[in-house]
Amino acid sequence: MLQKIEELKAKVNSLKAESIAEVEALRIQFLSKKGEISLLFNDFRNVAADQKRAIGQALNELKNIAGEKINALRAELESADTIDADIDLTRTAARHPEGTRHPLSLVRDEITSIFGRLGFSIAEGPEIEDDWHVFSSLNFADDHPARDMQDTFFVHRGPEVLLRTHTSSVQSRVMEKTQPPIRIICPGRVYRNEAISARAHCFFHQVEALYVDKNVSFADLKQTLLYFAREMFGPETKIRLRPSYFPFTEPSAEMDISCNLCGGKGCSFCKHTGWVEILGCGMVDPNVLEACGIDSKEYTGYALGMGIERITNLKYQVKDLRMFSENDVRFLDEFRSGR
Ligand code: DAH
Repeated sequence: MLQKIEELKAKVNSLKAESIAEVEALRIQFLSKKGEISLLFNDFRNVAADQKRAIGQALNELKNIAGEKINALRAELESADTIDADIDLTRTAARHPEGTRHPLSLVRDEITSIFGRLGFSIAEGPEIEDDWHVFSSLNFADDHPARDMQDTFFVHRGPEVLLRTHTSSVQSRVMEKTQPPIRIICPGRVYRNEAISARAHCFFHQVEALYVDKNVSFADLKQTLLYFAREMFGPETKIRLRPSYFPFTEPSAEMDISCNLCGGKGCSFCKHTGWVEILGCGMVDPNVLEACGIDSKEYTGYALGMGIERITNLKYQVKDLRMFSENDVRFLDEFRSGR
């Protein structure tokens, strides 16, 4: 009997099956009530008492081995089955989701590259600033409303530590460290204490440009502005300058461009004027040059500053400023081609 058991063990160990049906046939052959192993169990009755223990053990072992073998064969075929069903090797690969550039980054890069072609290089400064660089060095009077808590976020008072309200602070930082010629373009984020709405946000982005050298004139400023407007909004774009006031420039102006939606004919976007305002500019006030250690008798300069959100709105007609910071992928996806 022991010999029979050993033969069956060897047979079971070498079993193979090509399909689930074959596995089932093997199970019946060995393990069903009338299967080969069960028949051996029937014979167990006739085994001599002194051999019962050894043969009983061997029989149980055989039954376990057969059970495990058949389960293993079944599991192997089942997993192979599901893989075959799921993998279609002719299918095109799943698309790897690609990110997009943020519209504000696209426009910022376009602005800095236009100025880059005129020889301006990028300069950056800190967002957490002191009073000197944001206000005092830029000729703001002590009682100027921008210094008020209502407009400016203060991190600390006395000494003042604040979030910069404009990128003009980078002007004074660079002028303090560098003697002319200076030709810089300064993109960055700025903060103002405003309630968030479709038209205002407590943070937004600006680009500042500064040119200081001998004999820099308002004519240079105007020509630079015209070049910028045409590169940015197309060769038909017209500009106009309106007198304005900023503490750090004298004279100061605001620039409008002919409305790029109606071509200057008048539409609801330009409130039927044909013009839209895009930036502030002027000749650097001699007080600012002196405050930053530049001789105002030898050097003159111009400066200009614009909001990147504003330019982006003009280019892409984004109606709600909040879209820029909500990170809704459906919105960001519209800029996939990096227009
Ligand atoms: N700093 C101004 C603002 O935040 C913008 C500006 C106006 C910058 C005129 C300039 C300038 O450099 O000359 O509104």
